[in-house]
Amino acid sequence: MEEKQSFLKQKIDLESPNKNIVPITTSIKGDGKLSVGGCSIEELVKKYDSPLYILDEFTLRKSCEAYKKALEKYYPGESLPIYASKANSSIFMSSLISSEGFGLDAVSEGELLTALKGGVPNEKIVFHGNNKSDKEIEFAVRNNIKVIVDNDHDLERLEELSNSLNRDLEIMIRFTPGIECHTHEYIRTGSFDSKFGFGIEYLNILFANIRDTKHLKLTGIHAHIGSQIFELDPHNDLGEIMVNVILEAKKFGHNINELNVGGGLGIKYTESDDPPSIDEWVKTISNSVVKACEKNNLDFPTLMCEPGRSIVSTAGITIYKIGAFKEIPGIRTYLSVDGGMSDNPRPITYQSNYSACLVNNPLNNNSHNKYTIAGKHCESGDVLFKEIDLAECKTGDLICVFGTGAYNNSMSSNYNRIPRPAALLVCDGEAEIIQKRESPSDLLKYDVLPNRFIRQN
Ligand code: LLP
Repeated sequence: MEEKQSFLKQKIDLESPNKNIVPITTSIKGDGKLSVGGCSIEELVKKYDSPLYILDEFTLRKSCEAYKKALEKYYPGESLPIYASKANSSIFMSSLISSEGFGLDAVSEGELLTALKGGVPNEKIVFHGNNKSDKEIEFAVRNNIKVIVDNDHDLERLEELSNSLNRDLEIMIRFTPGIECHTHEYIRTGSFDSKFGFGIEYLNILFANIRDTKHLKLTGIHAHIGSQIFELDPHNDLGEIMVNVILEAKKFGHNINELNVGGGLGIKYTESDDPPSIDEWVKTISNSVVKACEKNNLDFPTLMCEPGRSIVSTAGITIYKIGAFKEIPGIRTYLSVDGGMSDNPRPITYQSNYSACLVNNPLNNNSHNKYTIAGKHCESGDVLFKEIDLAECKTGDLICVFGTGAYNNSMSSNYNRIPRPAALLVCDGEAEIIQKRESPSDLLKYDVLPNRFIRQN
């Protein structure tokens, strides 16, 4: 019998988890069933119900380690890897990445609070965003968190605030380097037509404006060119462009010592994906910065990078239970699961593809069928897989979707008033809750009936 889920038999890359489809600790036990982190998935669902998000601690730590090792190996100056918490923000993730010595990138007061609660040191947090509120900026400044200035609006707010506090503030600026890369247009950010950052052609005016402020000290520059990128050339170009920006800023008296290249390294969602390794990505960036610095006799700035997806995506899986089947003869068979676009909005938003298998028959032994896996939401487009080969399955069987650690939980919603799944951390045969399952009544918490609608008894 042909095995369609051959990705489960592929050799695991221990050094660069983003090159694997499955978490490093994935295994098929003697009973032929799937386990991760030493835990039987079937048992976890018995205890914690479905749908269920699961994160594998070993894979998470291996990803962090890969960035740290590569930065140490290829970059002779100081460096700081910063986790882009939008990929998966929780007190647990904040705590894990700070235990690895990472910094954290936040884009809202919510992400900032989560980082602080998880113990990320204030000085290792950077605050991004193209429309930060006054309250958010003030929150960051009062907590000594570095703000990455995205536009003139940010700059004006920070200038006012630093004047009113009569305090010097170190800032970084984000600019768009004008680099095109091949990724979905919604997650491309480095080209000229982007809502983020200052246009590179505007930087000289900006440098002059910052020089004329009393308290703002420009210490760093930032650029992020997009996400789920498989090419190395754009990041090779970026290093050199950024060093040139540092040299330009020098002419205005700014001594920039932090160079932040953003994130963007892709991961392997399906067998046809072939992203570079973390080592190759870091090597490309480091070499390009080093070369440009040496050429211009510039001290090496602190090199920062902001990986999100490549830290957490491969460590995460989602487990669903199969419910209804609908066969349309000659067309397709729909198999519906107990989650969908509310816990994973990526297929409907970006037409993203994933890999999946049955928990109780991961290698598809027996005859197999083509199924379309539909979510349970009231939306025809709520389809997680258009056509997937799975062994014969039935109501009550479990499906495991791989690569869901990033931009699933963090982009989840309560569409159709469906509660969010629980999230578990697995490690060495133990599982612990890191996010409690919502209940339908939780979802009523913020509803308020206007007074005149409340029936008087
Ligand atoms: N730094 C900045 C400033 C960013 O905007 C992002 C992602 C990152 C770092 C992390 O990029 P990563 O290493 O994860 O590629 N929701 C989309 C992805 C949006 C990415 C937004 N910015 C998705 O599900 O594919």
